[in-house]
Amino acid sequence: MTDRFTLTRRLAHDHLARTLRADVTAGLTGTPKTLPPKWFYDARGSALFDEITRLPEYYLTRAEREILTAHCAEIAALSGARTLAELGSGSSEKTRLLLDALAPALHTYAPLDVSPSALREAGQALVRDYPGLTVAATVADFETSLELPDTPGPHLLAFLGSTVGNLDAAQRAAFFTSVRGALGERDALLLGADLVKDTPTLHRAYDDERGVTAEFNKNVLLVLNRELDADFDPGAFTHRAVWNAAEERVEMHLRSAAAQQVKIPALDLLVAFEAGEDLRTEISVKFRPGALIGELAAAGLTVHRWWTDPGERFALLLAFPG
Ligand code: SAH
Ligand code: TRP
Repeated sequence: MTDRFTLTRRLAHDHLARTLRADVTAGLTGTPKTLPPKWFYDARGSALFDEITRLPEYYLTRAEREILTAHCAEIAALSGARTLAELGSGSSEKTRLLLDALAPALHTYAPLDVSPSALREAGQALVRDYPGLTVAATVADFETSLELPDTPGPHLLAFLGSTVGNLDAAQRAAFFTSVRGALGERDALLLGADLVKDTPTLHRAYDDERGVTAEFNKNVLLVLNRELDADFDPGAFTHRAVWNAAEERVEMHLRSAAAQQVKIPALDLLVAFEAGEDLRTEISVKFRPGALIGELAAAGLTVHRWWTDPGERFALLLAFPG
């Protein structure tokens, strides 16, 4: 049974050591201070994100599931995929709707994520629940390495959860270009994107009542403590979700409650925070369908169909090369 699940590591063995160091040095010595989002997702971070997807305030997962439920048969028919690949697959929960719809012709499911723990848990559950399915998982960074597996085509490449919104405009342009390069003529991209909406709804989704999102945000400090021997006190920072109207994005910040210095011995770095100074840990861009379709077109990807949930909160786009 387990031989239907494989986990391949395509991250350089010194990825954590080298990339994390470079990211943290650049982010914490710049103004404003920032950290790139992929470092949220150690085992604890992945588990906390799963909890976020079940929060009443976090409408994104439910809205995207509604769209998949209503349209997965059409998506399966339009793509005719024999391989379903997925970037930032996490728990692969919603993906089950696609697996069900593609089942008769499907050969391989190929999830890719930076989180080995998420891939292992999701993959083992999938081979248990889908007796005919081969799951070929890859630990990799989709911003630097995005090859499709050498399995039967057409390939459907899913990128769900509005993770695309965690990239800024320049990163998205580079990402869409590399997706276009990876896709063959008959392959397709299935992209989930959260839409611009009223500010209170957005704010609640990223600052929930129970404080799970705050825990998730602060988890990145624990990753730095563990991996770089830093001495961040998570209690000395407060979680803030801020709507940036000019950029149409929610920004996650950690605000330093008081003036403080943080030691990062592995980087030979002493980071000084002023009282009230913000560290930006994440952006979550909210989209307008027309503009997003334009961004994809600029990278050589033509949107053939797109759908929203009945509440028009979230969009799912199906694009082909050309
Ligand atoms: N697709 C799931 C999970 C979304 S959370 C859903 O819709 O619910 C974002 C996921 O992307 C996490 O599992 C995280 O580990 C992964 N991720 C974030 N940055 C990444 C990167 N640069 N390369 C690969 N995976 C990444
Ligand atoms: N892709 C998710 C989103 O933008 C990631 C996310 C959800 C997130 N909640 C968060 C990232 C809180 C940082 C902090 O919605």
